[in-house]
Amino acid sequence: MRLVFLGPPGAGKGTQAVRLAVERKLPHISTGDILRRAAASASDLGNQVRRYLEAGELVPDAVMNAVVEARLRESDCDGGFLLDGFPRTEVQAEVLDGLLAGRREAVDVVLYVDVPREELIRRLSGRRLCPDCGANLHVDSLPPGRGEQCPSCGARLRQRSDDRPETVANRLEVYERTTAPLVRYYEDRGLLRRIGGLGTPDEVYQRILAVLTAGRQAHGPRSHRREVAC
Ligand code: AP5
Repeated sequence: MRLVFLGPPGAGKGTQAVRLAVERKLPHISTGDILRRAAASASDLGNQVRRYLEAGELVPDAVMNAVVEARLRESDCDGGFLLDGFPRTEVQAEVLDGLLAGRREAVDVVLYVDVPREELIRRLSGRRLCPDCGANLHVDSLPPGRGEQCPSCGARLRQRSDDRPETVANRLEVYERTTAPLVRYYEDRGLLRRIGGLGTPDEVYQRILAVLTAGRQAHGPRSHRREVAC
């Protein structure tokens, strides 16, 4: 299965992709994670991308296309992959199509996770991460009276630098301007499946499984390569 998660910042793409990747034993390719790891290092890529991440701006297409092309060439992607955060522009979508066509492959399905703007802002602006144990929390879920301390290990929680209110606003604007048109791009190709992203992560995951199962039943076991192969 070659699957793309599409949706605005905070829609829950990463949360769902991690779970589906484990269940389907497929590599989860998060371009945000790749870039954040690079930005935390002194690598060439890190130096190129740091200021884009801080500002909530998109990293240039040429850089992203090279990063993803290299990642998809790794052998663990031979049997499929879950892309989370790529493509984010029409140029990236076209490059992905071309790359896969060169391997006689294609995107099987695009899951578009849809969440209203107020909820996106609530999730992103309230997200806190524990630098020690890796816990991912929301300020509303923290026990009262202990400040922003990790309930599991006691470390001081941090906010992702691009979750500050002004950067969140910019990320949402960039999404509307540059990435939202991909909904139409994939709809035109018959690949888009809409997933309601409100509710618990479990509920959203069940919707995803239902959509993938429906795709398989509709197309039968000998599916054409553009159909949902799961
Ligand atoms: P990236 O890391 O991809 O960030 P994003 O998509 O903007 O936002 P998130 O990862 O925060 O959202 P998500 O939809 O994955 O939600 P998540 O599951 O985390 O990209 C970061 C930056 O890298 C970009 O701004 C850009 O600069 C650069 N970049 C990356 N890819 C690029 C590309 N292709 N081209 C150019 N530049 C690129 O959930 C969010 C929060 O909500 C979490 O705290 C989670 O616990 C919570 N949550 C999840 N689901 C639910 C639920 N159902 N109910 C309540 N809370 C939930």
